[in-house]
Amino acid sequence: MAVSMLSADFSDLNKSISLVKDAADVLHLDIMDGNFVPHITFGPLVVKAVRSISDLPLEVHLMISHPAEFVDDFVKAGADRISFHAEVTMHLGEVLGLINRFDCKSGVAISPQTHASRLFEYLDLIDYVQVMAVMPGFFGQEIIPETLHKIMEIKQEADEQGRYIEVEVDGGVNDDNLDKVLQAGADMVVVGSPIFTAHDPVQAALEIRRKLDKL
Ligand code: DX5
Ligand code: ZN
Repeated sequence: MAVSMLSADFSDLNKSISLVKDAADVLHLDIMDGNFVPHITFGPLVVKAVRSISDLPLEVHLMISHPAEFVDDFVKAGADRISFHAEVTMHLGEVLGLINRFDCKSGVAISPQTHASRLFEYLDLIDYVQVMAVMPGFFGQEIIPETLHKIMEIKQEADEQGRYIEVEVDGGVNDDNLDKVLQAGADMVVVGSPIFTAHDPVQAALEIRRKLDKL
């Protein structure tokens, strides 16, 4: 499970991270530029701050129009995994190449309207695909179940190409639909608001963790 910090309390990041540290495999940091998506969140400085207070792997989800220009900054800030959106560039291979220069996993995120086949010619450069199950840019949305078939499409194509690709589902994942998302083939789920808006975030995170371990 990657825990999205987007809905956490940023006035006390240390505490927010400590709430989920025993349940999370990865911390998911959503970077928004006010251009590709309407909101602005934060940049490498905050990623670096998170790096300094947590040993968990950091996954940076770039919802920005010009990812190529910022790969180095986020790697330097401490990202272990970086994904960018297929919708922002015709040159997926170039951006993947920039990430792959580093000891950092490369991911491509696809918004709900983007077909999985857009990625097929790049699978040899990709470590993970992030299937967006909501429109990028906002937390707390309802999952769009019609996006989930893309997981198997990617897995099958990767199989045919003799590749293993990790597939992650981002957005709207909660306790109620977890089974469905995993049955659809997800290797990793991003969960944010079901944890941080819960009355007891520690318990909410551990509850999802326990369910994942059982499934
Ligand atoms: C949406 C973000 C997600 C989101 C996940 O643009 O990419 O990571 O914050 O959070 P929830 O669990 O609220 O859907
Ligand atoms: Zn995200």
